[in-house]
Formats: sequence, structure tokens, C-alpha cells
Amino acid sequence: MADIYQQVEFENRLQYLTELFRLAIEGRKSRRAQRLIRKAGFPNTDTLEGYDFSPVTLPKGLDQDYLTDLQFVQQKENLLMVGAVGTGKTRLAISLGIKACLRGMTVQFHRAADLCNSLLELHPAGKAGKLIRDITRADLFILDEVGYVPFSKSAAEMLFNVISNSYENQSIITTSNLEFGRWSEVFGDERLTAALIDRLVHHAHILTFSGPSYRLQQALSRTEHDEDTVLQKTTETDN
Ligand SMILES: Nc1ncnc2c1ncn2[C@@H]1O[C@H](COP(=O)(O)OP(=O)(O)O)[C@@H](O)[C@H]1O
Ligand SMILES: [Mg+2]
Repeated sequence: MADIYQQVEFENRLQYLTELFRLAIEGRKSRRAQRLIRKAGFPNTDTLEGYDFSPVTLPKGLDQDYLTDLQFVQQKENLLMVGAVGTGKTRLAISLGIKACLRGMTVQFHRAADLCNSLLELHPAGKAGKLIRDITRADLFILDEVGYVPFSKSAAEMLFNVISNSYENQSIITTSNLEFGRWSEVFGDERLTAALIDRLVHHAHILTFSGPSYRLQQALSRTEHDEDTVLQKTTETDN
């Protein structure tokens, strides 16, 4: 308040104090949100604005408002986002995570392979506690890209323990390019995979993503654009 009290116009005492308190509370909320976003570890700060839902098929019982209003986080329900590379899974997961931070919720974002590497590195030195606590205490845990890299046996077990700890205490968003039938290829062990799917799928909404890769489309339209520019330049020089 000491920083902003001079910015508020004075009309009468009540108006002045109300406005000053409102600004102070807003400032505090926004600083908290920025801190939560930094702590969450997102690779970027994409938002839901401009997100095209046409590649996403929502399951019965989950409408878009329920999803984007983050009611699944309040209900501690899980989301499973399955689909081919570049169809917008990570983008949607991050956008929902950012929105959760803006609402004051705690979020942890981890790419599955990076998390396994960190756990493998920290655990033997007895230093994995903080990481595991941060994840299991968050309102929303986003586990991105399960399926790209197979895990070693001990990494799969540690990841399983983290997910078991957070089970039913928080909401988890998992993204994967593989349907469940092939998850044992990533986690190695059939029984561990079955237990893991059981935990992630219980109370979960499964969203499927289809269509061509956005990345590829963007790259193609860039190439077309470059060709247009080259053509334009050639015509200009010809003239
Ligand atoms: N539905 C969408 N609406 C807007 N942008 C999208 C959409 N899907 C993907 N993108 C963009 O395409 C790129 C790849 O998307 P990403 O979420 O990383 O795909 P995935 O995680 O499914 O491999 C990103 O730059 C993302 O912003
Ligand atoms: Mg992705």
C-alpha cells in the first residue's frame, strides 16, 4: 500500500480506502500467480486464448466449460490426453495449468523423461524428497509426454510411487502419444503398468486428439509463405 497510495485519486474517504484496498489485493494476487507460474516449471506460458478445440474429442460427461473452468481440478479428477504428436496435447495441458496458477492453485509440470532422470539422480543421494513433496502437494500435477522414451525399471518404479502418493489427493493431467495397450512398452513391467493405468484412469476423463500435426502445418505454411516471398521477389526483380 505504501507503494501505491499516491496513485489513487481522492474523492472521499470511503471511495479512497475501497480503491486502495482493491488495488493492494489485486497486486498481491497477481504477484502470487507469477510466483506460482515460475514454480510450476512450464516450458512456456501459452494460454487458452486462440486454442482451437477442433482436434479434441471430449469424453461423455466432460463439457468444454467444465474443463476450461478447471472444475476437474477442484474435484481432483484426472485427465488423460492421448493422440499423435503435434495435435495440441502439451499446449492444452500448459494452458490449463497457467489458468490454475492465475487462480492461485499450485501446479507442477514435468516431462516424464526429465522427471525420471531427476528422480534417478536425486534418489540415491536421498535428495528426492523436496521434488516428490512439491509434486504430491500440488493441486495439479502435469505429466507430459509419457511414451516417447521407455523408462528403466527403477525409474518406472519411482514414477509409480510418485503417482501412488498423489493418488486421489490431487488432479493429474497425463499426455501421451500411445494408447494404454502399449504403455507396458514404456514402463517395462506389465503389472506395474496395469496398476499405474488403474490409478491414472480412475476418476479420469480421456481426451483424444486427432488430425494432422499443428507443428507440421505451421512448418508447411511457413515454407509456402517463403516460396511466395521468393516468387514475389523474383517477379519484382524481373520487372
Ligand atoms: N489446437 C490447437 N490450437 C492452437 N495451437 C495448437 C493446437 N494444437 C497445437 N498447437 C500448436 O502446435 C504446436 C505443437 O503442439 P503441442 O501441444 O506441443 O503438441 P503435442 O503435445 O500434441 O505433441 C504448438 O506450438 C502449439 O501451440
Ligand atoms: Mg507434447
